[in-house]
Amino acid sequence: MGRAETPATLCRIAPGAVRSCIGYAARPMSLPVAGRGRYETPEGAARYAARSPARGRVEEELVTRALDALAGDRMLLDAPCGVGRMSRLASARGLSVVALDASAAMLERARAQGVATRYLRADLAELPLRDGAVDAVLCFRLFHHLRGSEDRRRLFRELARVARRHVAVSFFHPVSFHHALRLAKRLWGVRSMRSVVTLGRLRAEAAVEGLRLERWWAQAPFRRDLWLALFGK
Ligand SMILES: C[S@@+](CC[C@H](N)C(=O)[O-])C[C@H]1O[C@@H](n2cnc3c(N)ncnc32)[C@H](O)[C@@H]1O
Repeated sequence: MGRAETPATLCRIAPGAVRSCIGYAARPMSLPVAGRGRYETPEGAARYAARSPARGRVEEELVTRALDALAGDRMLLDAPCGVGRMSRLASARGLSVVALDASAAMLERARAQGVATRYLRADLAELPLRDGAVDAVLCFRLFHHLRGSEDRRRLFRELARVARRHVAVSFFHPVSFHHALRLAKRLWGVRSMRSVVTLGRLRAEAAVEGLRLERWWAQAPFRRDLWLALFGK
């Protein structure tokens, strides 16, 4: 398997899709993402790939609902793609997928599946894509690693810039048994790297960046904290 493309190599392959050819490693504007380091090594990528299949299936069901709602969209940016499980799902549903992640180790595993038309190593804060380059963006399992409103808005702005029609993001909702358990564990000194946000607040943050909430789904309302929201432009 070859190496993942950097913006510089993509520039040669698809000049129309690329905004800048400055190398990924030189970019100073990276998005602060809690726990990002654990995805950077081959061992970390292997651990993520080996997550519970049952948990994975439930998450795939959630994403499938959003993919079903992308009627008419043809090109999807899966960012971050991680080891590529949602790229595989989207490709199987007939979407042409651009897969992007900051971690070389995660991307290498995603690339081994060979389902996306492009694999890009880049930071979500500065996507190496032109405005409106794709129809839709899927950002799954990242927002809960952001610090708060300002970073969420910053990411919404960048996702909305490259998406022509839709932006789907997952987030963790505070009203759930799962979150209550996490708060309780804090009393025993167990720290969590997850942040939560209500749908109303997320809707308001996205609205400032020109996105309006179309639909949303919860993995298991009031029990689990993972939700998925679909925004339109
Ligand atoms: C929890 S995984 C989710 C991956 C995938 N969406 C999934 O659900 O399988 C988070 C991913 O975000 C990537 N990541 C973290 N910070 C990033 C950033 N600033 N830009 C691009 N990718 C980033 C990590 O490398 C990791 O692969």
